[in-house]
Amino acid sequence: MYDAWKILLGLIIFLAFATFPFYSNMGKAVAKPDPKLDTPVIQQMKVKQCVESKEFMRAEHMQLLNNWRDAALRRGERLYKGSDGRITEISFQNQCLRCHSNKKKFCDECHSYADVKPYCWDCHIAPKEAKNEH
Ligand code: HEC
Ligand code: HEC
Ligand code: HEC
Repeated sequence: MYDAWKILLGLIIFLAFATFPFYSNMGKAVAKPDPKLDTPVIQQMKVKQCVESKEFMRAEHMQLLNNWRDAALRRGERLYKGSDGRITEISFQNQCLRCHSNKKKFCDECHSYADVKPYCWDCHIAPKEAKNEH
């Protein structure tokens, strides 16, 4: 019985450490990027889908963009066939940025979090909505 307070103290310390990752993750969950899909073009879509699945786009859009550029500029190909057979015109501006016209609330939302700074907008014109937010 005389060690009861030690056991109790041990338990309290154990609980504090065991639950710490949970508390510290709560802060991170709030800070996570939240890319917005509520652009005029996407709002009008009956079936809201990207050129590939959301999971694919999230993980592979950098590579897809590289492939699009190589296809268009090196091989002169202007059409992309998605994995589900849908055909999309290969164009960064007329496709990606037409639907995702909210650069700040979409592309930048994730990129600031991931600390990457694609330089695409040095040349490709950012959509008007994004410019107005400066
Ligand atoms: C026809 C409109 C349209 C075009 C063109 C388009 N997107 Fe999308 N995109 C969407 C929609 C709608 C979603 C959400 C899909 C879903 O929820 O399943 C999306 C999802 C995404 C996502 C995932 C977002 C997330 O929350 O995980 C990324 C990244 C993305 N698009 C990038 C691009 C890039 C890069 C291009 C050009 C290669 C492109 N999109 C072309 C409409 C489009
Ligand atoms: C769901 C989050 C998310 C969205 C939305 C998103 N990106 Fe990204 N993007 C990332 C992440 C994360 C990386 C870094 C990946 C890596 O380093 O492997 C990245 C990297 C890139 C790169 C490569 C940059 C480099 O330096 O390697 C390009 C280009 C790019 N994104 C373009 C876009 C464009 C254009 C849009 C908007 C149409 C967009 N992304 C929207 C998460 C996102
Ligand atoms: C130095 C200027 C410059 C930069 C920076 C740049 N581009 Fe381009 N890009 C061009 C030019 C010029 C074309 C050719 C336009 C055409 O022929 O239709 C092009 C074409 C493309 C194409 C294929 C055709 C089209 O009309 O969309 C894609 C895809 C593309 N760029 C994506 C990107 C992405 C993604 C980035 C950022 C990682 C980027 N570009 C950065 C100048 C640039």
